[in-house]
Amino acid sequence: MAMFFSMMLITVVISLFLFQTVSSSIDFIGSSQSIKDGTTWVSKEEMFEFGFFSLGNSKNRYVGIWLKKIPVQTVVWVANRCNPINDSSGLFTVNPNGSLVLSSQNKSVVWFANSSKLAKKPIAQLLDTGNLVLREEGDINTENYLWQSFDYSSDTALPWMKFGWDSRRGLNRRLTAWKNWDDPCPGDLSFGFPDEPDIYPEMYLMEGTTTYYRSGPWNGISFSGSPDVRPNQLFDSHFVNDGDEFYYMYNIKNNSLISIIVLNQTKSACQRLLWMEGDRSWRLYVSAPKDDCDNYGRCGANSNCIIGDAMGCECLKGFKPKSPQKWDLRDWSEGCVRNNRLNCPKEKEKDEDGFLKLDGIKMPDTRDTWFNGSMNLKEFRVKCLDNCSCVAYSNHDIREKGRAVGSGLVI
Ligand SMILES: *[C@@H]1O[C@H](CO)[C@@H](O)[C@H](O)[C@H]1NC(C)=O
Ligand SMILES: *[C@@H]1O[C@H](CO)[C@@H](O)[C@H](O)[C@H]1NC(C)=O
Ligand SMILES: *[C@@H]1O[C@H](CO)[C@@H](O)[C@H](O)[C@H]1NC(C)=O
Ligand SMILES: *[C@@H]1O[C@H](CO)[C@@H](O)[C@H](O)[C@H]1NC(C)=O
Ligand SMILES: *[C@@H]1O[C@H](CO)[C@@H](O)[C@H](O)[C@H]1NC(C)=O
Ligand SMILES: *[C@@H]1O[C@H](CO)[C@@H](O)[C@H](O)[C@H]1NC(C)=O
Ligand SMILES: *[C@@H]1O[C@H](CO)[C@@H](O)[C@H](O)[C@H]1NC(C)=O
Repeated sequence: MAMFFSMMLITVVISLFLFQTVSSSIDFIGSSQSIKDGTTWVSKEEMFEFGFFSLGNSKNRYVGIWLKKIPVQTVVWVANRCNPINDSSGLFTVNPNGSLVLSSQNKSVVWFANSSKLAKKPIAQLLDTGNLVLREEGDINTENYLWQSFDYSSDTALPWMKFGWDSRRGLNRRLTAWKNWDDPCPGDLSFGFPDEPDIYPEMYLMEGTTTYYRSGPWNGISFSGSPDVRPNQLFDSHFVNDGDEFYYMYNIKNNSLISIIVLNQTKSACQRLLWMEGDRSWRLYVSAPKDDCDNYGRCGANSNCIIGDAMGCECLKGFKPKSPQKWDLRDWSEGCVRNNRLNCPKEKEKDEDGFLKLDGIKMPDTRDTWFNGSMNLKEFRVKCLDNCSCVAYSNHDIREKGRAVGSGLVI
């Protein structure tokens, strides 16, 4: 009897030792299997690691995914964002029916992910893209995933991650910042497309329900207010808007480069970081908002923001400050109003309203626009003149010198 117990003790000690020092070389677990705190999974090419981790000096345990290749702890996804486990009893399990369950010692469910359909033989696998997927054992078709972490992004957008709205599933993949760098629970900063499928979409950085920054709509090459998104030697940008879904996605051209997009709650910014192998640190590549003019509605209606030595606003031609006193005090919030009333609906036969061409500006907020991809600019001019609440029109695709498709701005 005594012999039996000591044997068991040895086994326990050995397996604990293994768990703490060896990250397993498997990248998946099968149905009814679990991983314990102390074990990790590594994706095939060793890009990403999945497992339990703590942040800062806290003893709280989270389950998530981090970049394996770099020495600075960079967590890109967290399962139990607001529900840490306070000891090392956590257990991550694949249920036979296709759900993922994170539980702690007293068997309380800390986090739970449900499959879209009943599974037969589900496995959970960590891919080299950083996507944790639940799929049928023999089925690697990406369309058939039962669940994937890419659909439930935390504060980080990785290459190949679809970032946006899927109307078939009513799913909007957005980023939400961590509360602070020790607490992955969502703060009030979020970034992404709105849920409305009927608009020509653009991305908004929100602080709670307040719009803080917008990217401008996609113009065929980049977001009109974010020229840095333009394809370059490092990245390709993709934007898809096909009726069922609209999303943004990027990929990195050179596999040896590591770059992520992450929300920074303390800076109230969405930042693209680039890993500098020489410095062994992240470098800020671009940040949105970029400058004072990039802050949402900085200049009020009908005015243009000028970034010079100091930021300032300028009424568009034909407009004057609504409140000249405030304008002189550099309070531009009330914007500008027309010098002359429009002749709309047409009263005087002789006067004809017209349009003024504006170059090099961020397209106005598309939440107030109407668009039709089969109309040309001439048709839009006619349509806009016909409708007294229409103030401007534009093409929304600038490729091939601005193909004739357009959008009407209705305010
Ligand atoms: C289980 O543990 C959690 C904390 O880990 C605690 O909040 C909860 O009350 C416990 N539940 C039971 C039934 O003991
Ligand atoms: C999980 O999904 C199944 C099938 O879609 C559904 O019947 C069940 O209620 C879901 N469970 C939870 C906890 O959401
Ligand atoms: C699978 O089982 C879990 C726990 O028993 C349950 O909550 C969940 O709804 C089930 N999922 C499906 C798809 O039936
Ligand atoms: C990719 O990046 C690495 C490291 O910066 C560089 O050495 C290599 O030449 C690049 N490859 C290509 C195809 O640009
Ligand atoms: C947030 O942004 C600031 C300014 O760019 C930077 O110093 C800080 O390191 C960022 N935080 C993280 C965790 O990246
Ligand atoms: C879009 O424009 C085309 C061409 O003018 C027209 O046939 C179509 O009815 C318009 N669609 C909508 C929804 O207005
Ligand atoms: C003007 O356009 C708006 C927005 O599309 C529409 O709701 C309104 O009915 C239009 N008015 C006229 C007179 O066509």
